[in-house]
Amino acid sequence: MRSISLTSLALAALLAGCGGDDGNTNDEPPLPDTSGAPAGWADEVPLAILEDIDPAADVVEVALEAKVATVEYRPGVATEVWTYNGTVPGPMLRAKVGDTVVVHFTNHLPEATTIHWHGLRVPAEMDGAGHMTTAIEPGASFDYRFVVPDAGLFWFHPHVRSDVQVEKGLYGTVLVEDPAQPDLGDTVTLVLDDVALRADGSLAPPGSGGHMEEMIGRQGNTLLVNGRIAPTLLARAGRPQHWRLVNTANARYFHLEIPGHRIVRVGGDAGLVPAPVERDSLLLVPGERAEIVVTPVGEPGDRIVVRNLPYERGHGTGLEDPAELFAVEIADLPAEQTPQLPSILGTVEPIVVDGSEPVQTVALSEVMNHTQMIFRINGQAWPDVEPLTATVGETQVWEVTNETNMDHPFHLHGFFFQVQEVNGAAPALREWKDSVNVPAEGTLRFAVRYDDRPGGWMFHCHILEHAELGMMGELQLVR
Ligand code: C2O
Ligand code: CU
Ligand code: CU
Repeated sequence: MRSISLTSLALAALLAGCGGDDGNTNDEPPLPDTSGAPAGWADEVPLAILEDIDPAADVVEVALEAKVATVEYRPGVATEVWTYNGTVPGPMLRAKVGDTVVVHFTNHLPEATTIHWHGLRVPAEMDGAGHMTTAIEPGASFDYRFVVPDAGLFWFHPHVRSDVQVEKGLYGTVLVEDPAQPDLGDTVTLVLDDVALRADGSLAPPGSGGHMEEMIGRQGNTLLVNGRIAPTLLARAGRPQHWRLVNTANARYFHLEIPGHRIVRVGGDAGLVPAPVERDSLLLVPGERAEIVVTPVGEPGDRIVVRNLPYERGHGTGLEDPAELFAVEIADLPAEQTPQLPSILGTVEPIVVDGSEPVQTVALSEVMNHTQMIFRINGQAWPDVEPLTATVGETQVWEVTNETNMDHPFHLHGFFFQVQEVNGAAPALREWKDSVNVPAEGTLRFAVRYDDRPGGWMFHCHILEHAELGMMGELQLVR
């Protein structure tokens, strides 16, 4: 870990587009050192950071308010949105591993909501979802309180009418840092979303996409990176970019490609993976996170376009044209010598499964009820479901079978799992996941070990329209 002076810390905050008002007290983890990046390199992808109002070193105490606001997705055109603290994405909650987090939340929306902490191992009554939590009514407040035990990029969003509320702009990131992690390059968090924008700047109302929207979920006509359309990062040739990515879209699968460049995946749902994996493209399903390293190659002034490639997840979703997601411009600075990436990034202890573990079978299906689609798990549609059961300390294997002819991104609340096989094949890498694609007509098996957090935990398809149309279930974890 290199030591960072206060000046370069402040500079890094400015360069990272944090506005410098992130309440930097000396207990916060140092920001990644981006002082060698071109000035203003990430100005077009700003993310506000929540101010920590508690001076204690291991407590992060913040205030969040859900409210209606106006943003300009298209420059000069106002769009009414629902926000956390007035921005889309909402502000980032920054903490370090082991911190206690206190969130004073107030709902100023015209309807009830909750905050669910996607990927954080919080107590069930803090999870903001399912039968365990009651919704926070308009004008009401609630304090969320939990410890953040794992490093990585996570996110938060409502779990009430999530298809509508998330689409309107209610999502934000949680970055939990481990000060011992290696510096992987100029680091920035990029939140990927899409919205259906009409000519007058308004968001197309939910349901206006008709049967196709029910079937495949809401896919927008406008791609957003940190709430911006096709922003540009400034980078130095040869100097690695370390991007933390999260897909917050209702339904879109992001499928990134960077012509002329390799993508090195270094992290996933729960921070760094054991070893870097090089690839030509990256698929990120709704809810999922990835950390990647990309080393820009080119001459000053060159524009490298990060493209979103079509991906067929059923019903012709792969027929779209490739689109520009964002770009990287090579700055007018001498190229840097590219450092070697560590070949080992972290360790993931395997969940040992000897075949005697109970198997939870979960079948994803769809039916047509008159003109309305219903999505189901084991033949039942939320909220009329019979919970699966498990005991604290137990290891279970889940077999998720997708009986439909489209992909579904499966998400389990509260616990990370290890995928054992997809259609019979083991994944290339052992890693902790909470959101994973289950291919059309495919089968996926994962192992999960339940730590001591009893209660009701949801699992569901993260295509939010599918979830709200029934594809949600509940696990009852007992002591
Ligand atoms: Cu992002 Cu119930 O999940
Ligand atoms: Cu979740
Ligand atoms: Cu689905």
